[in-house]
Amino acid sequence: MASPDFPPESQDLQLYVRVVENVEDAVVAMDQTGTISLFNPAAEVCTGLSRRQCLRRSYEEIFHDQRTLINLIRSALREGRSFVNFEDVLLQRPSAPPIPVSILVSPLLTSSGHQEGVVLILRDLTRVRELEEAVRHADRLSMIGTMAAGLAHEIKNPLSGIKGAAQLLDREITEDSQLKEYTRIMTREVERVNGIIEELMDLASPRQPVMGEVHLGKLLGDIVLFQREAARNRNLSFALRLDPSIPPIRGDENLLTRLFLNLIKNAAESIDQQGAVEISTRVASEYHLNQPGDRPVPFIEVEIRDTGKGMTAAQMEQIFTPFFTTKNRGGGLGLPICQKIVSEHRGFLKVESQPGAGSTFTVSLPFYR
Ligand SMILES: Nc1ncnc2c1ncn2[C@@H]1O[C@H](COP(=O)(O)OP(=O)(O)OP(=O)(O)O)[C@@H](O)[C@H]1O
Ligand SMILES: [Mg+2]
Repeated sequence: MASPDFPPESQDLQLYVRVVENVEDAVVAMDQTGTISLFNPAAEVCTGLSRRQCLRRSYEEIFHDQRTLINLIRSALREGRSFVNFEDVLLQRPSAPPIPVSILVSPLLTSSGHQEGVVLILRDLTRVRELEEAVRHADRLSMIGTMAAGLAHEIKNPLSGIKGAAQLLDREITEDSQLKEYTRIMTREVERVNGIIEELMDLASPRQPVMGEVHLGKLLGDIVLFQREAARNRNLSFALRLDPSIPPIRGDENLLTRLFLNLIKNAAESIDQQGAVEISTRVASEYHLNQPGDRPVPFIEVEIRDTGKGMTAAQMEQIFTPFFTTKNRGGGLGLPICQKIVSEHRGFLKVESQPGAGSTFTVSLPFYR
């Protein structure tokens, strides 16, 4: 009789089957001739091919346009050892855009140690790459921010000297003098520069967010109301699609208001004649924030999509750099500040855009109660 610690073989087998069926990595097995004998559900999702299409066909036929993949499988079949490729291999898919994947190919051995084929494991790296991109932005920003804050500090003192001198001068000039206009401009412009510098220093200084309960739906609703009013004379529509199941999140209400106001204003400003801005919220089930000793925390996604002019890839590289702007009256600090606020909430910010096809900014915030 089997002891309870050692489940009978059929149960063992069922467990193996469930593991392969449920694992998030694509698992594809093939025999020594390269004929595919196993294709799990994750493989179907990853490759965009169905199990029926692939079973009993040769890997060379199925992956015919994937040079790297074919070479790795061929080597594993021939040499009987494992091969790993963590570099960005772009997996082409029949009716979907390619995705970056990591590849692991290992020989499949019988109990007597003979090689009977290989098993291929593909992992979708889309999310990993997105996170890396967000971290890169945040890193670059903090470096630039620290440098800029040092500089800003140096500028503030002489600036207040200039302002003081302009005020003294103003007092010396009689009310009816045309020179009054000049001192007024000097004071106003110095104040403007001062405002920019303060924003910049704010960007770099480590600031402790004041965390409280934030009702995202209400916060976004208020911003949209305000923006609709501001765009009353323009041919601009705002749509708000809220997932009603999202409970209040933990965050700094002022900062989050500033974040979404910046993004929604940018979206509205990207539209020339007529267009639409759509704001939606949802719970992202694809990834979690893992904290030691705690349950994984899901993310809330807020997506701000516009039908505006969009951006080139070169532009997208620059938008998080302080003072980068393509607007006549832009300050170029909006997005760096957004990035900072998102980082302070341990979230990340993603941008997708194409010239002429609008832009989508997605804010992902971890959802702790
Ligand atoms: N939704 C968008 N569509 C197209 N371009 C955008 C969008 N959001 C930002 N950009 C580009 O990124 C640049 C930087 O944006 P950012 O918000 O940092 O500064 P700004 O809007 O130019 O000025 P400010 O926000 O300080 O008024 C913009 O000038 C614009 O070129
Ligand atoms: Mg802006």
